[in-house]
Amino acid sequence: MQPLDRRDFIASLGGAAAVALMSHEARAAALEHALMSAASAPVATADGKKYPTVAELEAQVPDLPRRRGTGSILFAGDNDNGKLPLLPKLPARPTLPDFFASRFNAPRNHCLQSATLALKKGADQEVVLAALLHDTVLSLIRSDHGWWSAQMYEPYVSARTTFAIRYHQALRFYPDEKAGYEYPEIYYNFFGVDYVPPPHVEAAYQYARRHKWYGAARELTVCDLYAFDKDARVSIEPFLDIIGRHFRTPREGLGNDNSPVAHMWRTLANPDAPL
Ligand SMILES: [Fe+2]
Ligand SMILES: [Fe+2]
Repeated sequence: MQPLDRRDFIASLGGAAAVALMSHEARAAALEHALMSAASAPVATADGKKYPTVAELEAQVPDLPRRRGTGSILFAGDNDNGKLPLLPKLPARPTLPDFFASRFNAPRNHCLQSATLALKKGADQEVVLAALLHDTVLSLIRSDHGWWSAQMYEPYVSARTTFAIRYHQALRFYPDEKAGYEYPEIYYNFFGVDYVPPPHVEAAYQYARRHKWYGAARELTVCDLYAFDKDARVSIEPFLDIIGRHFRTPREGLGNDNSPVAHMWRTLANPDAPL
């Protein structure tokens, strides 16, 4: 794998000042993304920037330490010295903030930033909650994460919130000038400069854009932050009230309620179970 250009990497995160404000954990996650996306022979575009092609990214697969779709809790991260950290035990009846505290480590910062922006923009509470939850499933799995994440939350939040979570995955590939959403430049590195979304993503986009809740899903993509906002205060605290109002925490605790998605929460709670 080609070494990462340090200046390009820092610039992609919003500059040195923004990087200085990121936690170690957020920096490690960003570096991991960048390393997994760095091409062996990137192509130069008309404006001189270098991005990998889809074929170049595919060619890296045999050299990767794991599948790109693997959830972050399932392997040792860059700041774990190659050792899997022991996970703190969850309470007998774990709640959403418990999972934020010790199971959503890699996506937590990004989700809190996105929800903070949604609050700042005056989004309604169902959309703020969608922003807070939208990428948390990346601890478990990355592939098709919009669908996985929506499913994981379906028993506990409104259908409009899960709609926004499910369709943000497709909508993020399609600009909406009126809504102020551009194709994220970082995707040229993640997916390849010549990436074309697969048919199920295109179909989901076509469906969502005609749906009455399109605005909620689109608003989520607009709040889906890729660069650190130096003014953002990232903490679960400002969202506890919204969670209390809009998240139906099961009395038995997440993972213990025998819902159709309880196994997803149990896997997050105990990813060391051998079978
Ligand atoms: Fe996402
Ligand atoms: Fe996101």
